[in-house]
Amino acid sequence: MIHIRPQDKVFVLTGSGVSAESGIPTFRGVGGLWRNYRIEEVASPDAWAQDPALVWDFYSMRRSVAARAKPNPAHLALADLEKRLADRLFLCTQNVDNLHEQAGSRHVLHMHGELFKSRCDTCRRSPFPDDSSYEGPAQIPRCQCGGKIRPHICWFGEVPYELDRIFAALRHCTVFAAVGTSGVVEPAASFVAQVRGRARTYYVGPEEPVNASDFDQCFQAKAGKILPTLFALA
Ligand code: APR
Repeated sequence: MIHIRPQDKVFVLTGSGVSAESGIPTFRGVGGLWRNYRIEEVASPDAWAQDPALVWDFYSMRRSVAARAKPNPAHLALADLEKRLADRLFLCTQNVDNLHEQAGSRHVLHMHGELFKSRCDTCRRSPFPDDSSYEGPAQIPRCQCGGKIRPHICWFGEVPYELDRIFAALRHCTVFAAVGTSGVVEPAASFVAQVRGRARTYYVGPEEPVNASDFDQCFQAKAGKILPTLFALA
């Protein structure tokens, strides 16, 4: 159990493992996305410059997979935790699906962007809701400014979003839990090291993450199975 005292501030970081039981593939496990696609061909600024149609094929496929997915008990448990903790919970996700929101979470920080948003690769118009799929070279959508419309995703080599808000929440948290993330990709992989000694740190997932030694306790289980009964509020 993770005991949460009245004075505790809780930081939860989720990764693709929290959506695995909803049928959305992870990246590095068996059947992971990076086993079938090369990151440098579909998820980097160079990929976008080289072949924007291939990038849109990849994200159109991911949109259609995510559109069929439903929240699982892990997402629902975190939405319930937000109801009980209110602003004492900071939910930061590396995921770009919207299953936390579908489950009822109202404050979700998507540090790697959002699959169902797009933005212009040239002008500074804000990202906008977009669930369209753009398949094939003729389909690259254009902005009025003449720029190309790209997925609102943080690609490898780009800076994740709202890091200032994330680091502020890390400075104040007293409980840190990472759920379903292999601990491979920075800066998220180092969040736990930043709070060690000051916060109680927990990992939830069926396999040990690369940064397992940074956690006080690891709950080796599927998130959908264990999260509904993991948090005990005093
Ligand atoms: N419950 C909890 N964890 C699970 C489950 C489950 N049902 N199934 C798998 N996992 C775990 C795996 O054991 C693995 O440790 O989820 C983790 C998924 O790791 P990755 O596939 O590396 O995904 P993630 O850590 O979220 O990747 C981080 O890398 O490719 C980039 O931007 C992408 O946000 C992504 C980032």
